[in-house]
Amino acid sequence: MKFFVDTADVAEIKELAALGLLDGVTTNPSLVAKAGRDFKGLIAEICEIVPGPVSAEVAATDYEGMLSEGRILAKIAKNVTVKVPLTWDGLKACRALTGDGTMVNVTLCFSANQALLAAKAGATFISPFVGRLDDISLDGSDLLREIRVIYDNYDDLTTQILAASLRTVNHVKEAALIGADVGTVPPGVLKALVKHPLTDKGLEMFLADWKKTGQKIA
Ligand code: E4P
Repeated sequence: MKFFVDTADVAEIKELAALGLLDGVTTNPSLVAKAGRDFKGLIAEICEIVPGPVSAEVAATDYEGMLSEGRILAKIAKNVTVKVPLTWDGLKACRALTGDGTMVNVTLCFSANQALLAAKAGATFISPFVGRLDDISLDGSDLLREIRVIYDNYDDLTTQILAASLRTVNHVKEAALIGADVGTVPPGVLKALVKHPLTDKGLEMFLADWKKTGQKIA
């Protein structure tokens, strides 16, 4: 599973990119508002740091508006992935932008049928929101499972499943077990993946025993 980081915080992106952990970045209007920076400048900077797909979301909701904004965003860098919402106009914009040769991420997906439509519209990525389904007491992982089965049933559906709204380490594990192509993860969750109490305890014991040997590796 590829890892995208779900943030517009350049410092966090730089840190994770330096670890060689990042295959891409996703942003959304809420994350951009949090960053408090000029949108196009921010996306240009992120695209320089991470060579993989960088999602930048349109703000318009009508087809013409989305197409025009999408084309402006696509000009920023080759790795910009234009994010459009899962509406009829969004699907139309997806088809047109894909026709331009631009990568498109269809976002706010909450049903398998929506994912099927996005794939038919030529989306590069579909973003099912796992955590937000969990928020309303549904199982977001079920949606990932359904989309995986449907896409695998048809060779002509080449859209990649980008598991989004992953808020816990278990969400990440579930997405990988189900076979999502990509998981987009907030920096805190990505960093938490390395943690296990037995790793910490084991390391502590090994270090204590190593001290007893009185040796140095030099
Ligand atoms: C990413 O593309 C999505 O916008 C993001 O994962 C949504 O996450 P949230 O539901 O935690 O806001």
